[in-house]
Amino acid sequence: MTSNILKTQAFINGAWLDSAARFPVHNPATGELLAEVADCGASETQHAIAAAEAALPQWRGMVAKERTAILRRWYELILQHADALAELLTREQGKPLAEAKGEITYGANFVEFYAEEAKRIYGEVIPSHRADARIITLRQPLGVVAAITPWNFPLAMITRKIAPALAAGCTVIVKPAEETPLSALAVAVLAEQAGFPPGVINIIPTSQPALVGEALCASPVVRGLTFTGSTQIGKLLMAQAAATVKKVSLELGGNAPFIIFDDADPERAVADLMAAKFRNMGQTCVCANRVYVQAGIYEQIAERMAAAMRALQLGNGLQAGVTQGPLINQAALAKVQQHVADALQRGAICRLGGKPAAQGRTYFEPTLLTDVPPDALLTREETFGPVAALIRFQDEAEVIAAANASPYGLAGYFYSRDLGRVWRVAEALDCGIVGVNEGIISTELAPFGGMKQSGLGREGSHHGIEEFTEIKYVLMGGLGPAQP
Ligand code: SIN
Repeated sequence: MTSNILKTQAFINGAWLDSAARFPVHNPATGELLAEVADCGASETQHAIAAAEAALPQWRGMVAKERTAILRRWYELILQHADALAELLTREQGKPLAEAKGEITYGANFVEFYAEEAKRIYGEVIPSHRADARIITLRQPLGVVAAITPWNFPLAMITRKIAPALAAGCTVIVKPAEETPLSALAVAVLAEQAGFPPGVINIIPTSQPALVGEALCASPVVRGLTFTGSTQIGKLLMAQAAATVKKVSLELGGNAPFIIFDDADPERAVADLMAAKFRNMGQTCVCANRVYVQAGIYEQIAERMAAAMRALQLGNGLQAGVTQGPLINQAALAKVQQHVADALQRGAICRLGGKPAAQGRTYFEPTLLTDVPPDALLTREETFGPVAALIRFQDEAEVIAAANASPYGLAGYFYSRDLGRVWRVAEALDCGIVGVNEGIISTELAPFGGMKQSGLGREGSHHGIEEFTEIKYVLMGGLGPAQP
């Protein structure tokens, strides 16, 4: 492993610090112990909050161009270290190396985008209601922001959250997922080299997420909370953050419908379904979870999927040719097993896979289920695993109703070549993100976020920065006509 980016201490106020205890980080592909990492608790959390508060006046006081220059240097350093970062990411998270490299570029792109965007946080002059007054708005940094990030994108979800916060002039405390703290600490090494002043970025790894999350939420100093993870934890954090009325942005669970109409291009639909389903072994919140296929094209899609899935290569993500790694842990495997068993028990047919794989304790075979009934558990809950579940439907109204009958509303996809239908369905889906004849929708240029219980706020694009700014309205009065 590349040692110059491998850190195991917490990063607080520009210093690498030990804590009283450490926790182990394992490679999910092999079970190998990768590192013992500083286990931050209440005192480290308070230290990080104090550091972020102390650093705020200098950071927010810089002109935007100065913040841009530091962010830009960080972007370049991330790209220069892309190979080492990708290898570290594969080791701690399990995704194939090619996907890990894709995540490093994806993550770096947010830093590049918000480095540029820092210079465009515009206020406004609003036509006034009085001749002797002017209305202006300023957009000012929110203040200290806490970012709680997930294990499925150990690097990109950090940059997607903190790059806009930093660009806006906020200081940040990151609590990375306990499964994947090493990528977070590695990007902090590069942030230090890029020249962020001490206290602007603080990283507090922990094996006690509830304790640290609660402390971050309880602090009146922390003005913003940004979280990616399950809807259940998101609701808890939102309730905790209510006590100090923080600005909250949440990227929570999804249960993406992927709809293939009879008039779709079947080749394209299947190629994109493979990508939308099997990216990160099905462990993204925008992965296709419920595949609705219209009756006239159903059998053809099932056969094409089976053929495409036979080409998937399961194994250690560091090995050449591997396209599917392990699941993150045994709890993830148990959930996939439960969803498959439930669908089969309700009458689904298993065409491929269906069981844990021989490669190791958290590997699951890429699984194709057909004739999945519309009431199967996986139509209500996110599977977060490599299961393509094909549900048959007859008409447009029926499938829109089924797709929207979910408390979640993050991503939705559909395939059709009928322009009228394209508009109707895109407008009808209760999803924050819609892929029309497209299976990969993520880019730093577009607003990523959900409706309903999939979350609040948007990440990426110029909208992403809104989560980290306050609008201040200034009324300038006494501007009467010039005195002779
Ligand atoms: C996620 O799963 O949380 C993010 C997926 C993405 O950015 O594409």
